[in-house]
This record gives sequence, C-alpha cells and structure tokens, in this order.
Amino acid sequence: MDKIKLEIKDVLGTVSQADIDALKGAAQAGLEKLVKGTGAGNDFLGWLKLPTDTSDALLDDINATAAALRRDCDVVVCIGIGGSYLGAKAVLEALGNSMGVNKGPQILFAGQNIGEDYLYELQEYLKGRRFGIIVISKSGTTTEPAIAFRLLKAQLEAQVGREAAGKLIVAVTDAKRGALRTLADTEGYKTYVIEDNVGGRFSVLTPVGLLPIAVAGYDIKKLVAGAAAIEEATLNGSDTSAMVYAMTRNALYRAGKKIEILVNYNPKLHFFGEWWKQLYGESEGKDHKGIFPAAVDNSTDLHSMGQWIQDGERTIFETVISVEKQAHEVRIPSDADNLDGLNYLAGKRVDEVNKMAELGTRIAHVDGGVPNMRIVLPGLCECCLGQLIYFFEVACGISGYILDVNPFNQPGVEAYKRNMFALLEKPGYEAETKAIKERL
Ligand code: PA5
Repeated sequence: MDKIKLEIKDVLGTVSQADIDALKGAAQAGLEKLVKGTGAGNDFLGWLKLPTDTSDALLDDINATAAALRRDCDVVVCIGIGGSYLGAKAVLEALGNSMGVNKGPQILFAGQNIGEDYLYELQEYLKGRRFGIIVISKSGTTTEPAIAFRLLKAQLEAQVGREAAGKLIVAVTDAKRGALRTLADTEGYKTYVIEDNVGGRFSVLTPVGLLPIAVAGYDIKKLVAGAAAIEEATLNGSDTSAMVYAMTRNALYRAGKKIEILVNYNPKLHFFGEWWKQLYGESEGKDHKGIFPAAVDNSTDLHSMGQWIQDGERTIFETVISVEKQAHEVRIPSDADNLDGLNYLAGKRVDEVNKMAELGTRIAHVDGGVPNMRIVLPGLCECCLGQLIYFFEVACGISGYILDVNPFNQPGVEAYKRNMFALLEKPGYEAETKAIKERL
C-alpha cells in the first residue's frame, strides 16, 4: 500500500525541533488518553478502532443496499448536515469526475442549508425523475435535514406512492432515539445505525459516509482498509506522523500562529478542506482557545487570497496536501505562432506546471514568514483518502488533548439553535421567545 507522508521541515524557521519535541510528552499522553479512554469526552471514542472493527458483513450489507439504489434510481439525494454530510461530500468530490459525469446515479445533497431557492430548484429537478433518498441524522431532530426530508419524502410519495417510496428511502440514525428513528421504524425503511459513541464529525467511516460513497460506486472496502492501516500503525506506535502533526501545529500555535490554512492544489479536494474545517473547528474551538481552521484551493485562491497569505498579518501557517500522481495525463501543445509565449511549456504535463506553482508558492510563503507542513498523498484513490481521513481524525484527538480541551463535544453549536427556535416560537421555548423578542 502506498502510504501518505508528512513533512515538517518548512516550519523549522518559525519553531525549532526542540519546541516541537517539547510537546512529545503531551502528545504521547494524548494518544494514551485515546487508547485507554481516560480523557475528556471518552464516551465518544467509537471512531478510534472503527476501521479495524468494521466487519465485512456490514460493508457487504451497505454494498447491497447501494446496489439496489443504483439499480432503482437515476438520482439519489443525501440529506444531512455537518458531520452527517461533509465526509461523504468530500470523498465523492475527491473521487468523482470534475464535470459531474459519473457512472451510476447522480448524487445530490440536501438538508445542508435552509436555502428556499435551493430546495425549490431541487424539487423542480426531481420532478418525474427516478429518485431515492438517504436521510442521515444521528440525533434525528436536526432542523435543516428534517425540513428537506419532509419536503422530499412527500414528493417521492406523490411520485411513486407511499409503499414504493418506502423502498427508496434509507435512514441512517440512532439505534433507538429521535424522530427519524421513530419514522423509519413506522414506515419500515431500511436503516443503518450511528453508534452513540461516534460523534458526527468522526462518522465518515460509518454508514453515514460509507453508504453514499458506495452508492456512487466507490470501493468502501479499500477506503476502510486505508484507514485501518493508519489506525494500526498509529496505535501500535510504528507511525508517529499523526502525533508529529499534532505536536507541530500546537508548537506553531504557541508561537503565535493562530490560523491553520489547509491548502490543496487539486480542485477535487475542496470539500476535503470543508470536512477538515469542521473536524478541527468543532473539536478545538472552545474555552476561548483553538487554532482557526481555514482552507484554500490553489492555484485558484492564489489569485484571491495569495496577497493576504504572502503579506498579511503573520499569524498563519499552512498545511499543504500534495497529490503526487494524477489519474490522467494532459500535455501542453506547441503553437507555431506562440502569441501567448507559452511554447517554453510545450510538451510539459499540466501537472508539472501545477507542481512548480506549488513549490514556488511554498518557497515564497516560507520566505514570507508562513511556516508550511506538507502531506504527500500518493494519489486520489479510496485507499489514500481512507488513510488521510484517519490520520486527521486521530491527530485531531491528540491535538485537542495537547490544547487541553474536550475534543469530542460541541456545546457552542447549540447557541444559534436556541435563538432560532425562540425566534420561530417553537413549543417549549416560550421563555426564550419572550426574552429574545425584548432584545429586538
Ligand atoms: O459534528 C457534529 O456533531 C455536527 O456537525 C452534526 O453532525 C450535525 O449537527 C448534524 O447532526 P445530526 O446528524 O444529529 O443531524
């Protein structure tokens, strides 16, 4: 198996190896808290050994459900938000065709926003089409996906009848609790369980992510195997890169680098950045602490954010995901007139230009006071993505413990919900409604 690789030499002008090594004890203690379950949030460690614990029977069952949806649907709408959306979206974008020309059903998403026009246009698009729904909500009560599901369930039932609709809907939710569980049991939907001890942002390797990825036709066994390889190597101590990443970013944070920018040079990784932002933002941004996770897509964003990164406030560092091998080859043609002056590139692969943009940017940013880490991904395949997902998950747990926060809760997420419910006059929120209306 081609392994992902972490390089940290380009941070050493900002922090020393000794600064990083000074956090080794804390990182080892963090890993031990994960393994022994002795740290804060230890009731949410179900993801830690998930890759090696996932049975072939479960993967086969998911593949069978996926095959049925692939057979019966031209469009499958995945409904979910946050951790119940971003992992699948990230993997599908990374593995899919950039023009959306994929084999199998088209995968669309809903419930990840409350855009009225988005939902209107989605419903218009689905009119008369053979569509199915994967509805994903661990709590089963989240407002955004609940609204989308109510709309699309009604539409599907109107289009094919209630009984047939029931066979085209799969629910991924809690084993026992929540409105979605009750509804799924009542309607007899096929269901998958999100275990209590796996938080949303750590759930991509459960049916939450695996089912949509399988429906899109990708190999979930390879994805899980990639993750399992990093799990084993990290937990048995033979691969310390997750620890080193956690130590290095905390050393940089202590040196005043408060913002980490995840950088890619491959547009297929845009949503991987979104997934990573949630993972680190929700895990670490608490107790008025935490590195702010940002992301850019280069070279696109070099033409928008490049100025700030090169010359703005020196509170940032970058972690660059570099994809070694491209799946396809495109060479720049020669042109007899050479009016654009590009003949010096004739015969070169586009990726060679991209790699030089990456290297040139790294040197410029490091020279400009932006320390860089680099994660080399052999290619964009299921196995590499599985490795990268687990690498970031376990590093996140270790990093949160170095930072001395509970990496597995998200109390701050509730604040907007309380206000929204009060403003919408949800039953049970009468006092909050009165209080918030007095402030307006
Ligand atoms: O990480 C989290 O816990 C959140 O992002 C949730 O995944 C998100 O709010 C969706 O929650 P649920 O799956 O309960 O609908």
